[in-house]
Amino acid sequence: MEQTFAIIKPDAVERQLTGTILARIEAAGFTIRGMRMVRLTKREAEGFYAVHRERPFFGGLTDFMSSGAIVVLALEAPDAIRKWRDLMGATDPAKAAEGTLRREFGSSIEQNATHGSDAPDTAAFELGYFFRGVELVG
Ligand code: RTP
Ligand code: MG
Repeated sequence: MEQTFAIIKPDAVERQLTGTILARIEAAGFTIRGMRMVRLTKREAEGFYAVHRERPFFGGLTDFMSSGAIVVLALEAPDAIRKWRDLMGATDPAKAAEGTLRREFGSSIEQNATHGSDAPDTAAFELGYFFRGVELVG
């Protein structure tokens, strides 16, 4: 079993897609081990995305991620990191495959509905940024 970290981003929460995306997560075979709705400060968003701080989109991304409520999730499944990224699809919704969440619910390369960790070390950092060990049930 593996755990990964996921976010339902502000665009999707604002558009009332939280329940739909959670249903898709469960239908795909993930077990939800942790879940919380939070509103990030700009500083918290900058800390979360610190690996991207030199990128040109960093300011816009952290403004967006602190613009409204998000839902943070700890997801468990065999091969969860890759499996969740496959379900999300490519970063740019226009390039994401048919049937993926970003293709269906994303509206731009920035406002792309969901986030997912990209490797075991980032999953560990990102899970730890939002969840204490005792909160991850099961
Ligand atoms: P994520 O981290 O959110 O799961 O997305 P990702 O791995 O597919 O993409 P990444 O390269 O890590 O970028 C993180 C987030 O930054 C925004 N972005 N904007 N304006 C742009 O060119 C641009 N490029 C990326 C997206 O919200 C992306 O998910
Ligand atoms: Mg990423």
